[in-house]
Amino acid sequence: MTQAKIAPLPAGAGPFRRPAGARLVATGLALPKRVVTNDELSKTVDTNDEWIQKRTGIRQRYIAGEDEGIRQLAGDALRQALKNANMAPTELDFVIVATLTPEMVTPSTAAVVTTDVGAVPAGAMDISAACSGFVYAVNLAWSLISSGVYRNVAVVGAETLSRVTNWKDRNTCVLFGDGAAAAIFSASDDASQGCLYLNMHSDAEKSRELYCPRTQRDIPAGDTIFTGEFNTLQMNGREIYKFAVHTLQDCIDKALTAVGIKASDLAVIVPHQMNARILESAREKLGLSEEKLYVNIDRFGNTSAASVAICLHELMAGKRLKKGDLVLMIGLGGGLTWATSLWRL
Ligand code: ACO
Repeated sequence: MTQAKIAPLPAGAGPFRRPAGARLVATGLALPKRVVTNDELSKTVDTNDEWIQKRTGIRQRYIAGEDEGIRQLAGDALRQALKNANMAPTELDFVIVATLTPEMVTPSTAAVVTTDVGAVPAGAMDISAACSGFVYAVNLAWSLISSGVYRNVAVVGAETLSRVTNWKDRNTCVLFGDGAAAAIFSASDDASQGCLYLNMHSDAEKSRELYCPRTQRDIPAGDTIFTGEFNTLQMNGREIYKFAVHTLQDCIDKALTAVGIKASDLAVIVPHQMNARILESAREKLGLSEEKLYVNIDRFGNTSAASVAICLHELMAGKRLKKGDLVLMIGLGGGLTWATSLWRL
């Protein structure tokens, strides 16, 4: 009997050797130069510092100038992460950029950033899952590494939300900010390190409460929130608020139950920064102290896909994370989408 021939592996990854675990190696951050305070905003739209701080917790946000695009912000964040990781760009196997504000339909932001930082021919792709995008991307990085496909995967959360903001709509324009942060994950020989639990979900039925239409066709039947400005975010704040309160709690509960731990076992929860009131009430319900649920919305506003990434970077830069720590990342937002990623560092 003749033996069936085994086709040779294509050039690229493989043969796959599953590593024992995966670890967060380093992070990087890039912010626009310009800071816009609530007082500054109140000069152009009918709002005030007191209302914004009381309802959202936001004091200021970074807004990209004409010369600061998503490509530059994402690239700078990744360069800094590579430097902090002491890693050559050519060591990267794959780059994922999570963003809802790519500059072009093609090439992807990830592809141009991969070229800009000198990581060619690493694989590259964008993820569009709005405020959940970074957590989706972290989960994908884990899948690529733990399956033995790749060893070094960079994940960037980057946004220039100011480009899709209706600056005349006080319901939305006070909320958003621009920025980018990157994280590099690598295979580890330590089996205790890696993702312990993840989930990723979506429900576009609910996207009538948060969407960014390009044409009349994109506006849901019976819509009541469209401001008349295409290519800008349309939002029913109260409905999104309710979704966020419920979903954040649900994601936390499910992660804790799945792994059989208590909230107090976590080193820190790193949630999407949507509203300080929502984060505060979740923290109080869990009975956690302030440092256990990370909040920086006061300085950055809601930066969508960049928000969890920026939090993670600040925790790393502040040396607040150590090996063995349990870190719970949660993203929720447009799509609507939501996602969880629980790691032991
Ligand atoms: N300044 C002053 N007054 C304002 C402003 C403002 N910027 N915005 C709204 N108001 C007014 C409203 O017109 C309303 O006035 P009225 O009572 O006379 O009608 C009043 O303030 C209360 O408005 P509400 O919408 O009920 O205020 P609320 O307490 O719900 O806060 C907010 C609004 C902050 C938007 C809140 O609903 C929220 O945070 N929702 C979640 C938003 C979110 O997380 N979005 C994330 C998704 S983004 C993404 O995925 C890209």
